[in-house]
Amino acid sequence: AQKEPLKVMIAGAPASGKGTQCELIKNKFGLVHISAGDLLRAEIATGSENGKKAKEFMEKGMLVPNEIVVMMVKERLMKPDVEQNGWLLDGYPRSLSQAMALENLGIRPDIFILLEVSDELLVERVVGRRLDPVTGKIYHLKYSPPENEEIASRLTQRFDDTEEKVKLRLKTHYQNVESVISLYESVMFKVNGDVSKEEVFSEIDKGISAILENKRTVDSAS
Ligand code: AP5
Repeated sequence: AQKEPLKVMIAGAPASGKGTQCELIKNKFGLVHISAGDLLRAEIATGSENGKKAKEFMEKGMLVPNEIVVMMVKERLMKPDVEQNGWLLDGYPRSLSQAMALENLGIRPDIFILLEVSDELLVERVVGRRLDPVTGKIYHLKYSPPENEEIASRLTQRFDDTEEKVKLRLKTHYQNVESVISLYESVMFKVNGDVSKEEVFSEIDKGISAILENKRTVDSAS
């Protein structure tokens, strides 16, 4: 049996496919998916002061202040299901200060997956993205269309999914990504995200499976 559950971080520009791949990773490896963006949208939905403040930043494509995000992610990471099953951190850390907050808690990933997608594709993916409020599933009008009319009629769009806003989100991403990457160089796993979601997953699957194999060998030797 495995002593230490798997710890995975996934990063990439807006609409690079993080959420899409997390769904596939979660299904195969049983990790707890923790998305900073989803936690923030859930906070907005409660109507709290933190939620209102977070929305102001998200609408401008800026990072939400650490005083809101850091505690939110930390609290989720401390829950027992995470300790039991391992974690898949999506969209966090996004700045050096967030990464250092994790370092200070002794939280480090076994693998840091970086999805690389060209900017032209990112805008197309954002504009065509739709979400199913019932199942939480991510669709794309061209690349992952809904299965039937009933689903199609209930799909929604995110408030920050416009061409104008994605350009601001991209700028924020490029301002911060290098400092985060530099901290995780030793566990970096870069994946070409320009291809189909199945092809992207196949690469990720190889990377995670190799880490798992390695962990099992270490566990059985100790
Ligand atoms: P967040 O919700 O994390 O948004 P994001 O990083 O901009 O990423 P997205 O969710 O837009 O895209 P994704 O990479 O998950 O792509 P998806 O799989 O959906 O953050 C939102 C905001 O919250 C931030 O701007 C910030 O303000 C704030 N925030 C979040 N984290 C924070 C933090 N740590 N600190 C401070 N603030 C924070 O795919 C996109 C589309 O493409 C879909 O339609 C999908 O169907 C399609 N698609 C996916 N893969 C493929 C493929 N291979 N081929 C064709 N189409 C594909």
